[in-house]
Amino acid sequence: MQVQAQVQLKSLNTLNLNAIASHYVQINQPDDVVEALAFAEHQHLNVLVLSGGSNVLLPQQVRALVLHLNIQGIDVLAEDESTVIVKVGAGQVWHDFVLYSTQQQWFGLQNLALIPGLVGASPVQNIGAYGVEAGEFIESVQVYDRELKHFTSIAAEDCHFAYRHSIFKDQPNRYIIVSVTFKLLKTAELKLNYGDLKQAVGDELTAENLQNQVIQIRQSKLPNPKEFPNVGSFFKNPILSQAEFDKITQQFPNIPHYPQANSNVKVAAGWLIDQAGWKGKQFGPVGMFHKQALVLVNYAEATLADVQNTYQTVQSDVKQKFSIQLEPEPVLYSEQGLIQAHLG
Ligand code: EPU
Repeated sequence: MQVQAQVQLKSLNTLNLNAIASHYVQINQPDDVVEALAFAEHQHLNVLVLSGGSNVLLPQQVRALVLHLNIQGIDVLAEDESTVIVKVGAGQVWHDFVLYSTQQQWFGLQNLALIPGLVGASPVQNIGAYGVEAGEFIESVQVYDRELKHFTSIAAEDCHFAYRHSIFKDQPNRYIIVSVTFKLLKTAELKLNYGDLKQAVGDELTAENLQNQVIQIRQSKLPNPKEFPNVGSFFKNPILSQAEFDKITQQFPNIPHYPQANSNVKVAAGWLIDQAGWKGKQFGPVGMFHKQALVLVNYAEATLADVQNTYQTVQSDVKQKFSIQLEPEPVLYSEQGLIQAHLG
């Protein structure tokens, strides 16, 4: 394990924010975590765990020890005729694992193709797309528990997976995820009920085709971070009570919406932002993408302050028009390397 000083994190976060880490270390195996934490404690440094950098907002200076997760490995732990249990290192690229699972004829994750980031981040905000969430296929998550100072495995039912949420968001500085164990199916059960996915898949009802269609839909709407630096959906889709929803549909009957449990209704943040006039609009170096208003793009060397100026203006315009408060999806870090709440 080798700690480096003054490391530029620009290429390690997909929004391409300039961020210099005072201390940085790559974590290649679970035991490195223990060594890195001991170093941080000795140096009185906070710890910032960096995965694929596709859901983070970093300040220009990070005075902390950045642990860059790079643990590899895909190991089958058990299988029977209907399922396979597979443990995947936190540093594996998510999309590569999805492609690999399809090649192996393991089913479940195809709707989640092309989501940026690494496997270790998938349980944190319970990544989801096209009617599927990663949590549905997670069996357990292997972590280092910084509070109890030991490695342990957390069963899926104790992860409290919900829409873009889990215990890893409730207790953000407690666990360092080193691997994720999935339970995948050996018989394909294609989930086609989201939007126009069914139409895109057509008559070729195979997992490969489903995966390819998801890739095509994503590529047609979502900007490639290498071309237009971004962190995917910038805001969560707000969940309204039935009463709030009834009120808003009186004025805006066309609002795209998805009924949830407990008679709540999820509404499309992208539509709200679009209707507020922000689709393709830029404020300074930061704007909302012209093909999908939910994606914030760094067009020209933006700083975190530029990003905050733009997203807070979007929030206040949406609030003024619809009386709905949008909540940012990416994790915001302070200069001390700690996760902090978004303002506004
Ligand atoms: N819409 C507009 N204008 C826009 C964007 C969207 O009117 O500029 C409308 C669309 O026409 C559609 C609705 O809003 O009726 C929803 O749009 P879309 O189907 O593109 O999905 P989304 O709600 O914008 C969510 C996830 C995505 C995920 C897609 C597909 C969230 C915050 N976002 O987006 O996840 O890929 O569904 O399942 O839940 C991510 O989290 O980074 C992400 C990309």
